[in-house]
Amino acid sequence: MSKKLTIGMFGFGVVGQGLYDIIKTKNLNLEIKKFVIKNADKKRSLPAELFTTDAEKILGDSEINTVVELIDDADAAFEITKRALSSGKNVVSANKKMIATHLEELTEIQQQYGTSLLYEGAVCGSIPIIRNLEEYYNNELLHSVSGIFNGSSNYILSKIFNENQTYEAALKKAQELGFAETDPTLDVGGYDPKYKLAIVASHAYGLFIDPTAVLNLGIDKLNDADIRYAKEKNYKIKLIPLAKEVNNAEVVLYVLPKFISKDNLLYNVENENNGVLVKAAFADEQFFYGKGAGGHPTGSAVLSDITALRYDYRYEYKKHLESQELAYSTNYSIKAYFRYEDEALLQQLNFESISERFYGENYKYVIGQINIGEVFAKRDLINQTGYFLAEIL
Ligand code: HSE
Repeated sequence: MSKKLTIGMFGFGVVGQGLYDIIKTKNLNLEIKKFVIKNADKKRSLPAELFTTDAEKILGDSEINTVVELIDDADAAFEITKRALSSGKNVVSANKKMIATHLEELTEIQQQYGTSLLYEGAVCGSIPIIRNLEEYYNNELLHSVSGIFNGSSNYILSKIFNENQTYEAALKKAQELGFAETDPTLDVGGYDPKYKLAIVASHAYGLFIDPTAVLNLGIDKLNDADIRYAKEKNYKIKLIPLAKEVNNAEVVLYVLPKFISKDNLLYNVENENNGVLVKAAFADEQFFYGKGAGGHPTGSAVLSDITALRYDYRYEYKKHLESQELAYSTNYSIKAYFRYEDEALLQQLNFESISERFYGENYKYVIGQINIGEVFAKRDLINQTGYFLAEIL
């Protein structure tokens, strides 16, 4: 018999609305008792008495056994989640920054209070990757998990590559469609996919990592020369996070733009769609594809978590608790394209095995091997107008 859920929901934006649309078509054993919202003046599609700006109306209500947290502010979301979990309420959240940043502490709180925090909607929208990593791949030897984890940047790249739109126009459209974060730098700078990668790493490898220790470079410095170069070589550029096990002892994590060719399964993942590529010792290569952003796709993942709570489902973090923990490493060499202006920075990056070099008046690039640790150390210098670094797969 499923448990009756009495829900308090924080936020009623794109995902909250999407979730509500889905819930009302179903006959589930649940009731949304209250919505806490930030802006009391905004016109809502539901009766006014359901809304309040007072968080206590949910957190202090002992009848509410489930909190759905869908707000933007990661710090406020953390306070809400901590308080709810420690007062016996289960929580469903889609806040990737909050989860990635505080996962270890949130795990401890869940254990201490016997409550459950689920967050499938935080990673790759509608693609059910977290529960699969947690349950299905529990005994698999995962070589790597990578993919397209950010709908907005993928939407922008698709519009640039397939429709010759400008970066600015495509970003504006992604914002209008509700895919982009309030601060779109999080999307195009590769922060959002990095938070998702950190969450993936905890379920794939049992590794709790502070996201600030992970390299992310985005697509915001891409220019016409890079696009021309990619098109000449029949590449597409995608923003790709990677978690990869090396030497049975370490896990390498980073987010970089990548030039990929037609034979890559991610080549045809377009617009706001996401794709997750899992490479495993026994299952071999598997590919998950689906919408990574938007109210209904993300709402469907949130609903799946809510309904799992009717049966008291919780992540057990088995790989973290039981296995020998793998160490995080940045000592990993990649083949990269680097467009640059200042020769001194190029020298500092210690490119090796340079296989191609172009030296024009307005466009200079090299292609060679570079270490991720080196890129991480110089990331602020690379992440400037005039520079663009992308891995070549
Ligand atoms: N801004 C995010 C994206 C939303 O574009 O993927 C979904 O997490």
